[in-house]
Amino acid sequence: MMDAVARPDVMTIHQSLRKASLTLQENGIENARFEARELLAHVWGCRTADLVFKLQQPMEETHQARLDDLVHWRCHRLPLAQVLGEWDFRDMRLKITKDVLIPRPETEELFETVVRRLAVRGVHSSLADKRSMNMADVGTGSGCLAIALAKYLREAVVWAIDMSAKALSVARDNIRSHGLLNRIHLMEGDLLQPILGSNTVLLDAVVANLPYIKEYEIKNLSLEVQHEPFMALNGGIDGLCHIRRLIPQAYQGLRPSGFIFLEVGYDQAETVAKEMCENGFYGVKIEKDFSGIQRFVIGTKK
Ligand SMILES: C[S@@+](CC[C@H](N)C(=O)[O-])C[C@H]1O[C@@H](n2cnc3c(N)ncnc32)[C@H](O)[C@@H]1O
Repeated sequence: MMDAVARPDVMTIHQSLRKASLTLQENGIENARFEARELLAHVWGCRTADLVFKLQQPMEETHQARLDDLVHWRCHRLPLAQVLGEWDFRDMRLKITKDVLIPRPETEELFETVVRRLAVRGVHSSLADKRSMNMADVGTGSGCLAIALAKYLREAVVWAIDMSAKALSVARDNIRSHGLLNRIHLMEGDLLQPILGSNTVLLDAVVANLPYIKEYEIKNLSLEVQHEPFMALNGGIDGLCHIRRLIPQAYQGLRPSGFIFLEVGYDQAETVAKEMCENGFYGVKIEKDFSGIQRFVIGTKK
C-alpha cells in the first residue's frame, strides 16, 4: 500500500483532521476539534481514543469523501448526533434520526432519579420475585428512557408510548438492538390513553420527558435544536400543555403508592408540583439537576 509520504496528494489522517476542524471552526461550530474527531472516528469505525494510533496513515479517498460530506452537513447546522446517526445515552449507543429528540444529559439524570427513588422505597427488590413492575415511558422518542429502565430494572415491563409513528420506528430499532423487545411494548397514541383505554394494566411508575418548551421560544433556540422534531419540543403556550394533561391521567393509571416522575423546564417545577398536589398526589418533591436547576418533579399516588 502506498503511504502518504510517497503520495503527497494524499492527506494523512492527521492532516484530514486538521482540515475538518478548521472548516467546522470557520463555519461557527464551537467545539470544532472535538466534533472533527467524532466525525473522523465515525468514518473509520473506531473510537476517538484510537485515532491517535492512525494519525500518520493515509486517508483513503472514500473515507475523505465521506468525511467531507459529514462536515458539510454539520456546517449546515445539522446536530452532530443526526450527522453521526447515533448518540450515547448513559452506556448505551442509540440510533438517532431527524424524527427523534437527541437524548440529553438531564434525561440521564431523570433515569437516575427514578432508579434511586424506587430502590429507596424497596419497590425494585420487593417486586423481584413476585411480579413484574409495570412502568410507562410517555413520549418515548428514541426509547432512551424505556431501554435504560428495562435494562437496569430487570423486573420492569415498560410501555413506551409516543404520538409519532416515525419516532416509534426508531425506538423499535433501538429496543431491538438492545435485545429488549420482549419487555418493552411500543404503543402509538396520546399520552397514557393507549394504556388507560385498554384498562388492563395498573402502573407502578409513570416516567415522562414530554415536550416542555414554550411554543414562542422555539424560534429563538439554536439552529441545531430547530432541526429536531417540532413535536418533541413544543409544549404549547406555557410549555405545559402535555404535562398538565398527563398528571390526572397518571393518577388514574397508577396503582396506590405508584410514582410519577417528570422532567420539566427551568421555570416550571413549582407549577407542576402544584398541579400534582391538586390532582391528589402526595409527598410531591422537586429535585435539581447538576446545573442546580429545578428539573424533576416526583409524586406518589395515595
Ligand atoms: C422531549 S421528547 C423526549 C423523548 C425521549 N423521552 C427523551 O427523553 O429523549 C418528547 C416526545 O414526546 C412525544 N410526544 C409529544 N406529544 C405527545 C403526546 N401528546 N403523547 C405522546 N407522545 C407525545 C414526541 O413525539 C417526542 O418523541
